[in-house]
Amino acid sequence: MRIDVVTIFPDYLAPLELSLIGRARRAGLVDVVVHDLRDFTTDRHRTVDDTPYGGGAGMVMKPEPWGRALEHVRTRPEAPGGRPRLLLPSPGGRRFDQAMARELAAEPWLVFGCGRYEGIDERVAEAAAEHFDVTLVSLGDYVLNGGEVAVLAITEAVARLLPGVVGNAESLVEESHEDGLLEYPVYTKPAVWQGREVPAVLLSGDHAAIAAWRHQQRLERTAARRPDLLSPASAARPDELAVVP
Ligand code: ADE
Repeated sequence: MRIDVVTIFPDYLAPLELSLIGRARRAGLVDVVVHDLRDFTTDRHRTVDDTPYGGGAGMVMKPEPWGRALEHVRTRPEAPGGRPRLLLPSPGGRRFDQAMARELAAEPWLVFGCGRYEGIDERVAEAAAEHFDVTLVSLGDYVLNGGEVAVLAITEAVARLLPGVVGNAESLVEESHEDGLLEYPVYTKPAVWQGREVPAVLLSGDHAAIAAWRHQQRLERTAARRPDLLSPASAARPDELAVVP
């Protein structure tokens, strides 16, 4: 997968060199290129923002550097072919979730445009739609200072779904949100810590009992912490939600 990021803070994306994503990059599984929006300005001060038409607080990102940057990203000789997916992080965008992570993991080419200040001139997304599949994407219902943190979160969630990035692919299967339920609780040695015992069923060696216990834990946790996630199908089986002492 190819990922291009356009930002005025390239250093903000430095964590993409680390850990899982860093390893995936070095293994050639993902190719991430970060572009400095200011490289696409033409004035001495490398200006990327201006005051909003119509008045109001704050500054708006100018369209010209964005137009040039996106054109550069799209037409670089090493760029993969086809229509790239342009993701514009914004609190007003589509809420990012695991289903969207899966959707994006199937794309060959993602381009992120990180807005700052009060946002990017509206015409940038309109014009980009001629060459990109444009999606505004939100991390959640709160306001960040810019799109960079969203890019880090989305890139991590997407890249770990790519074949070969997570060593043990099985660990992806039973994760929170993969099937609409939260994950079951996990324990490791010692069997007793600070007087707290690991649930006996996990030491029983009875794989069927362990699977049943874990499923029950997932249902209970989801009902307690995220009832909004429970599908009508789960809600229709309230017997499964009986609390285990
Ligand atoms: N930029 C500012 N706030 C954001 C949010 N909640 N999600 C994605 N990008 C943002």
